[in-house]
Amino acid sequence: MAVMLMAACNQKQSVDEKMMDTTMENKEWTEIKPEELNANVFDLMDKDWMILSAGKEGDMNMMTIGWGQLGVLWNKPVLTVYVSTSRYTNEFVEREGRFTVTAFPEQYRDALKYLGSVSGRDEDKLKGSGFTTEFTENGSPIYKEANLAIECKKIYTQQFDQSLLRDEQKDWYAQRGIGLHVMYIGEIEHIWVKE
Ligand SMILES: Cc1cc2nc3c(=O)[nH]c(=O)nc-3n(C[C@H](O)[C@H](O)[C@H](O)COP(=O)(O)O)c2cc1C
Repeated sequence: MAVMLMAACNQKQSVDEKMMDTTMENKEWTEIKPEELNANVFDLMDKDWMILSAGKEGDMNMMTIGWGQLGVLWNKPVLTVYVSTSRYTNEFVEREGRFTVTAFPEQYRDALKYLGSVSGRDEDKLKGSGFTTEFTENGSPIYKEANLAIECKKIYTQQFDQSLLRDEQKDWYAQRGIGLHVMYIGEIEHIWVKE
């Protein structure tokens, strides 16, 4: 997956490349411009999943996300995420001025499943995930094991309005019994990759 994300290589990973994935945490980050990002957003969100994180060292939370968009708004490169009010992470994203979204090589799939099924209200998820945090100059959390990290500054926040939902979406929430999602649009400030 790392190779697919970073080099947009459609070939199968060789054994050597897979072995390189295991040392992902030892690689250096390279900053790229938004237009240099060579990733398929449908794969990133829907297939590979990403981790949304917010907070500061010692006071942060993170969760798996599968919903989101990358694009342009008000002439700025943006990333939009959707966080249910039921998520502990929502308290952090709401409170902080920034959030990060990170992607990982396939070998970390179990950690992503864990971060998407357990709440930080109940467990120390950072410890449970086995991930190692790093902090950007702005103090936002990213992870050594990741191969893509996007840091965003929040520029728009809005919770879905129940009265504007179609019946299909009303049913979606009723069946799950979770709070409506809050849309956070973040201006992309930095994108880092490990090649
Ligand atoms: C693949 C996957 C994708 C998910 N995508 C989202 C999402 O986009 N938005 C959301 O609110 N919850 C999403 N979730 C659910 C949260 O990750 C999950 O409820 C998590 O345990 C919340 O943790 P927290 O309470 O520590 O914030 C997803 C879960 C999985 C497994």
